[in-house]
Amino acid sequence: MPHLLHIDSSPRSDRSHTRGLTADFVQSWQVNHPNSTVTYRDIGRSPLPHVTEEWIAAAFTPPNERSQAMQDALRLSNELIDELLMADVIVAGIPFYNFGMPSGFKAYIDQIVRIGRTFLFNPDNEESPYTPLIHGKRMIAVISRGDSGYGSGGRNEKNNHLDPHLRTVFRFIGVTDLEIIAAENDEHGGAALVNSLESARRNILRLAAEDQPQKGDLAPLTRTRRSTKSQLIPDGRQG
Ligand SMILES: Cc1cc2nc3c(=O)[nH]c(=O)nc-3n(C[C@H](O)[C@H](O)[C@H](O)COP(=O)(O)O)c2cc1C
Repeated sequence: MPHLLHIDSSPRSDRSHTRGLTADFVQSWQVNHPNSTVTYRDIGRSPLPHVTEEWIAAAFTPPNERSQAMQDALRLSNELIDELLMADVIVAGIPFYNFGMPSGFKAYIDQIVRIGRTFLFNPDNEESPYTPLIHGKRMIAVISRGDSGYGSGGRNEKNNHLDPHLRTVFRFIGVTDLEIIAAENDEHGGAALVNSLESARRNILRLAAEDQPQKGDLAPLTRTRRSTKSQLIPDGRQG
């Protein structure tokens, strides 16, 4: 039974284009996959907390050595990661803010990219110290931008820091099957906006009709129990 994780991250409600497009995807996906399950996470209306000093200390402490306070600090992160691991397909609505992602979606990424849960670190392997722990998932990122020309060859392509960031960070944890669908022209409006939304919607309905992976890869859940020192050595980015 395929499982879809639906994430919205726009702070806007009815006026949000990404919300409208992800809703179209979910509706069509359910028609095409009648026995499916959908989990919904609205991080636009219910923002996630940023990671804290306690969170970072807990994440880099082996699971069997964590205090109750450390376990509490990671509770939401564990919930979000479990939710991600359960999904076969992820559709995420992401507004384009200041040439990148909104802070709400970045907070989500910081909660789910976690040593020992979604990637491993082994400093002894100099060629390839990081190992992704997620496999077999498809992700569809649904983006809306105010201006236009951020796509390949466009006048704003060099200012599009969102697409490359998404590809890098999700590839880092093993989500390599990433489709990016973007609407543009929210700030220009008129026919340019309508045409762009229609084009995005067509692509979304095409993707929603495709066969999806049937099974989430749950192997990482067992691997998290291993906590050798090398896997938990911080990568130098945390304080
Ligand atoms: C804080 C903020 C920053 C934005 N920055 C950009 C930007 O850098 N480039 C752009 O083309 N549009 C920008 N926009 C416009 C949004 O990308 C656009 O309104 C989009 O439709 C938002 O997604 P939503 O409709 O799902 O809320 C910005 C909007 C806001 C509120």
